[in-house]
Amino acid sequence: MNLIFLGPPGAGKGTLAARVVEILHIPHISTGAIFRTAIAAQSPLGKKVKAIIDDGKLVDDATTIALVRERLMQTDTHAGYILDGFPRTIAQAEALAEFSAVDKVINFDLPDSAVLERLSGRRVCKNCGLNYHVIFNKPAQDGVCDSCGGQVYTRVDDREEAIAKRLAVYREQTEPLIGFYRDKGLLVDVDASPSVEKVVENFKAVIA
Ligand code: AP5
Repeated sequence: MNLIFLGPPGAGKGTLAARVVEILHIPHISTGAIFRTAIAAQSPLGKKVKAIIDDGKLVDDATTIALVRERLMQTDTHAGYILDGFPRTIAQAEALAEFSAVDKVINFDLPDSAVLERLSGRRVCKNCGLNYHVIFNKPAQDGVCDSCGGQVYTRVDDREEAIAKRLAVYREQTEPLIGFYRDKGLLVDVDASPSVEKVVENFKAVIA
């Protein structure tokens, strides 16, 4: 099954994707995670996108589309995939339609106040990328990842100014994708406000 996870920053797309990987056994492809890995490795791609991402803006369409096109050529995507954070513009969605057929687009619905609470409290493992939250999902030992022992840190783009910019960018450039995919009959809405377990149940119900 080829899935797109669409929704505002901090809606819980990455958190749910980690659970869906265990249910559907398809890879989780997060463009944000790919960019963050490139930044950590100080690769040419990482150097190119670092300032853009830290500032909460979007990486250019050509770079992002080329990256996803190449990733979807890998054999682990043959049984399906979860695209998390792509497409984010109409141009990206049109390009994707030329090289892959999407089965369903899951639209995560969350009010801005909850987005702010989730992002400002988010902590991430520097090593394995696992997500935590200072209130909803704390690591057992402060600052240390439960899974790999890596350092748990705050993403640069989770600062208040960057969060506001990411939300504005989402409303302007990504939200139009809701109508784009609804018109094609591919969109299903999931309420992202309840607990992670409940969101997983809601997801299972909409893809059944
Ligand atoms: P990306 O990494 O995709 O960021 P995002 O879309 O802003 O999404 P997030 O990762 O912030 O949030 P999420 O929805 O995955 O929430 P999470 O599960 O972590 O992109 C980063 C940047 O890369 C972009 O700003 C852009 O610059 C660039 N980029 C990426 N893709 C691009 C593209 N296609 N084109 C151009 N540029 C691109 O959850 C958030 C927090 O809430 C966590 O702490 C979690 O523990 C907690 N939480 C989750 N679910 C629940 C729940 N149900 N209840 C309570 N807490 C919860």
